Amino acid sequence: MLPDDVIYLDGNSLGPLPKATKTRVLEVLEREWGHSLIRSWTDHGWIDLQFRVGEKIGRLIGAPAGTTVVADSTSVNLFKLLAAALHMRPGRAVILTEEGNFPTDLYVAQGLTALLQRGHVLRQTADVMSKLDDTVAVLMLTHANYRSGAMHDMAALTRAAHAAGALVLWDLSHSAGAVPLRLDADGVDFAVGCGYKYLNGGPGAPAFLFVAKHLQDDLRLPLTGWLGHAAPFAFESSYRPAAGVARAVVGTPPILSLAALETGVDIALEAPIAAVRAKSLRLAELFIALTEQEGGFRLLTPRQPAARGSQVAFAHPDGYAIMQAMIERGVIGDFRAPDVLRFGLAPLYVRYVDVWDAVAVVRDVMRGEAWRDARYQQRRSVT
Ligand SMILES: Cc1ncc(COP(=O)(O)O)c(C=O)c1O
Repeated sequence: MLPDDVIYLDGNSLGPLPKATKTRVLEVLEREWGHSLIRSWTDHGWIDLQFRVGEKIGRLIGAPAGTTVVADSTSVNLFKLLAAALHMRPGRAVILTEEGNFPTDLYVAQGLTALLQRGHVLRQTADVMSKLDDTVAVLMLTHANYRSGAMHDMAALTRAAHAAGALVLWDLSHSAGAVPLRLDADGVDFAVGCGYKYLNGGPGAPAFLFVAKHLQDDLRLPLTGWLGHAAPFAFESSYRPAAGVARAVVGTPPILSLAALETGVDIALEAPIAAVRAKSLRLAELFIALTEQEGGFRLLTPRQPAARGSQVAFAHPDGYAIMQAMIERGVIGDFRAPDVLRFGLAPLYVRYVDVWDAVAVVRDVMRGEAWRDARYQQRRSVT
């Protein structure tokens, strides 16, 4: 459901509301919560919902059954899995990551190393390949960069990390539902990702996490909550981990948000991901070619199709004001400091004509210098 007067190019930040989600959430409110009340945990399958949606997301990311579950936020899942990874590599002190990774990934790693006080360090580098050595416990990367839209070669980096004896944790926030993923085939150890971007799960949708089958029995997590216990309803006084990925669950899941996420994921599963990817690349080609005709924008996204996710980013010194002027004219993208205009091209609902019309607005804003208006200069709290 998109308003008629909007071209929405921000599904890489918050996916739009699917029509089916409105119906489904109302049903959960009225029939399940409203009528069945607490009986819904069993009668309407609430207790299994995060596993059911996790399995469905697993199908989107190339993960086998029993490896993916929905829980918590991406930030919290990062904390949990990063801690587990460090525990699996005693004697190695480094969490290796890329410069320019999403801040939460960096901050969570910094918080964890400070908490552990065991000499771990977060190392940020422009060239992770050359820094993979026997000090690295875990390589933590975001598959598609939130700012530039550049996408890593997951298979090659995972192989290189393993050759150095390190584990790999991928943040799939900008990939899940947007690009083909083969976590199992690529030998990935751990992954996390957002539910509210290309999965269209709604604002603050719960996140997902993936743990490779062969690592699950050794998974020691720092947050050991009652729903990750082997027998939650035995109410024992000591923690015993649940079998498999279920131990990564901490507390009671947000059922309304899970129901919304499931609908978004169901829609994503209907579209063959190869077709989604092909359309995404063609949308990007068109968008880049037309926008570059305007001049003044510096493309940050790689030109090589295989090296980009599903967003296009341009740098412009007046990027903030330009984006504000575009938003006021109905073309919604977003801005990331210091100078980046981001445009999410979510193929499930962005059409070629939208790209054409969006660039007409770019042209209008640039040629008429509309962005110079004083009201576009004032920074809002969310950009
Ligand atoms: C790469 C990446 N990781 C994580 C997040 C957000 O994590 P959380 O949902 O915990 O706020 C984002 C949000 O944009 C992101 O781009």
